[in-house]
Amino acid sequence: MTLLACETSCDETSAAVVRQGEVISNVVASQIQLHAQYGGVVPELAVREHLRNFHPVVTQALREAGVSASQLDAVAATQGPGLPSALLVGLKAAQAMAFALRKPFVGIHHHEAHLYSPWIGGTPLRAEFERFEPNVSLIVSGGHTLLVLVQAEFEHRVLGSTMDDAAGECFDKTGKLMGLAYPAGPEIDRLAGQGNPAAYSFPRPLLNEANDDFSFSGLKTSVRYFLRDHPGLLEDSQAIRDLCASIQAAIVEVLVIKTVRAARREGVRCVTASGGVTCNRALRTELTAACQRAGLRLRLAERSLCTDNAAMIGILAERKLQRTDVRQDYDADIAPALQLA
Ligand code: KG4
Ligand code: ZN
Repeated sequence: MTLLACETSCDETSAAVVRQGEVISNVVASQIQLHAQYGGVVPELAVREHLRNFHPVVTQALREAGVSASQLDAVAATQGPGLPSALLVGLKAAQAMAFALRKPFVGIHHHEAHLYSPWIGGTPLRAEFERFEPNVSLIVSGGHTLLVLVQAEFEHRVLGSTMDDAAGECFDKTGKLMGLAYPAGPEIDRLAGQGNPAAYSFPRPLLNEANDDFSFSGLKTSVRYFLRDHPGLLEDSQAIRDLCASIQAAIVEVLVIKTVRAARREGVRCVTASGGVTCNRALRTELTAACQRAGLRLRLAERSLCTDNAAMIGILAERKLQRTDVRQDYDADIAPALQLA
């Protein structure tokens, strides 16, 4: 089966062609530069960019895959959650294509696609994916922080989520307090590489609570007070690096400990992680070490597939089409507030 997938839930316009569990092409037009000057995603601008980029991105994905629209067997798009008007662009355009081609259309839950993104890769990974192993999955992005128990294929239960800010939001907001440009996560990661994570002590929110929830707004507030109480600190470049490393250490420790704890309690032998924050080097290193200590297998999404992309939408859509009766109407609506069950 050759399937075209589209993703426009936030600030990336993406299209991918997948075939038999393999990503043939995956084109992502990021709007980060555009939104950076406003310090965050501006929905109205995001929609205009999606409208501008949709056709060229789809055309490029088809060209790179060497297929024409008439050779497609199905079309998929993100149905939710996300920015309503941004979702509308991709969903309606994808449905129109499916209708014109008289091919099935599949609407995909964005977070469910993240759950499967750590298995996108070469042949050995595909074989592992075929066998499927129950796992606990960490989804960490600018908008979400979720711990999900994936019991079986297409069967999952949310164990916990953030009660306030998402982990990526915490990186971005504390970075803003330090005067770093949006999104600050990658820059904090870079600066932290030359900093001392034990230089300053910040709270590890909900670390010892008997639940799988997260809370990051208190950490952001404590960084604000710390900067108020240490005027001039931001003029010292080594102090900034130490501060970045210390904030990053607090966020990473909470994510790693709570993920591993949930996996052990649920009795699974595998942990996966995806979402933009999974690009973070400290998170990748610490989660790898913690899973090794706990005897858990770890699947981290490839860096290029951590942030939003249509490849993960396509991989899940193809699998659903082949194994369930998921196909939908050409006029199925967006679901901006869709929750993962
Ligand atoms: O998944 P994503 O592209 O978009 C959504 O939010 O859905 O994630 C973007 C988030 C931003 O908050 C960004 O700062 C964070 O991921 N991020 C990172 C790193 N790369 C991206 N955070 C920490 N370290 C990184 N290397
Ligand atoms: Zn996402």
